[in-house]
Amino acid sequence: MVVDLVVDRIVAGGTGLAQLDGLKVFVPFAAPQERVRARLKVRKKDYAIAEIEEILEPSPIRVKPSCPYFGECGGCQLQHISYEGQLVVKKLIINDALQRLGRIFVPVSNITAESVQWRYRNKTQYPVRFDRELKIGFFERGSHHLLDIPVCLLHPESFDHLSRVTKRAMAEAKERTYDENSHQGNIRHLVLRSSEQDPGILVMVVTRTNSLNPIVVKHLAEQPGVAGVVQIVNPKRTNRILSQTARTLTGQDHLLHKILNKTFRVSALSFFQVNTGKAAELCRKVLKHVAPQGNETVLDLYSGVGMISLILADFVDSVTGIELDPSAVADARFNAEHNSISNVRFVAGDVDRAIDRIEKADIVVLDPPRKGCQPQTLKKVAELKPGKLVYASCNPATLARDMKILAELGYQAQTIEPVDMFPQTFHVEIITQLTPKK
Ligand SMILES: C[S@@+](CC[C@H](N)C(=O)[O-])C[C@H]1O[C@@H](n2cnc3c(N)ncnc32)[C@H](O)[C@@H]1O
Repeated sequence: MVVDLVVDRIVAGGTGLAQLDGLKVFVPFAAPQERVRARLKVRKKDYAIAEIEEILEPSPIRVKPSCPYFGECGGCQLQHISYEGQLVVKKLIINDALQRLGRIFVPVSNITAESVQWRYRNKTQYPVRFDRELKIGFFERGSHHLLDIPVCLLHPESFDHLSRVTKRAMAEAKERTYDENSHQGNIRHLVLRSSEQDPGILVMVVTRTNSLNPIVVKHLAEQPGVAGVVQIVNPKRTNRILSQTARTLTGQDHLLHKILNKTFRVSALSFFQVNTGKAAELCRKVLKHVAPQGNETVLDLYSGVGMISLILADFVDSVTGIELDPSAVADARFNAEHNSISNVRFVAGDVDRAIDRIEKADIVVLDPPRKGCQPQTLKKVAELKPGKLVYASCNPATLARDMKILAELGYQAQTIEPVDMFPQTFHVEIITQLTPKK
């Protein structure tokens, strides 16, 4: 069925939302306030999904997407909206989540325009598949069908080159791609990371078996900028890359990143913010909200390679970081030593349990993964009675949920400051400061 719709706004996930006789209709790649002719593809009891067939009256903030794969590839959702428009859209998405899911009515700050809107990612994870031909690219939007994408405008051009080199080398070496259905074949993913160093590219080849043809390694290692080639063996059916073991095949097994006045070793498997420039802004904002006096005991939950812990360490009495991933904990400890910082310690373990052993925290910083925090963990945080919480989140929905729980535990949001870490996509980083209710 084809219908004419007026798109009201963009909602979480980056799709447009329109109404059809009281039914919510999600319209991917629509822009706010435009009239579209769209075909209903999915119709459920309380919502529908429609694909645009024709734009009848374009939104004033609609622009021509820069990437030829936009709309087909699942990576970006907002390239059809001007950059300034994207910032307004993201602020509205945050407001909506906070008010609807969190019952939080604290004003959200305007998002500062990021000068680097393209090629900002320092990490790309490509699935590698054979589907009539060898494909290295990204999944089609909403499907498990891999698109062969030779150029992506969100990461360095060197990544495009390395994906082409991998294809040629795999063909020459007769390396087979992994097949999910039969659980046969070998190469599953190509993961590329970069830093400002020279050489500053780490190549990771994720395989099912322990073997990897040396021809592939040789071709990758000799490319300009490549600092090391690492193999990650994942023999399981799951696609998870983390928590596997990494084997260095040539060169280094890590990259170095400079954030503010500190240098961070980031090993192949460790988490690091994907937008290095904006990671510095994230740290500055966390520091501003912590507003240290010099004598505080800080607890940094989900501490990764210690980025926030080590930046704060200069300004407070002591910092304890808690992190689950052993690779990140090893990096964090190394980073403390190599930045000559002695007032931090890193606890390896699950925050949900390791927090039981913490006795004192004047300030707690939380920077969890997208799924946010467990309610029990938030309860334990509140029981420590910190004078301030600084919560960094990359998911407005889980942040809103957690802020609601924190409000019930007596912590009230003071400020909500987004950082545009992920231009062209619906993703956004948010930093909030909470203090005990008076
Ligand atoms: C968004 S990252 C933040 C890392 C760090 N704060 C930074 O900015 O680089 C989340 C981190 O939480 C870790 N993590 C995930 N679940 C965890 C858990 N249950 N307990 C402890 N750490 C966890 C991940 O390994 C990852 O390093």
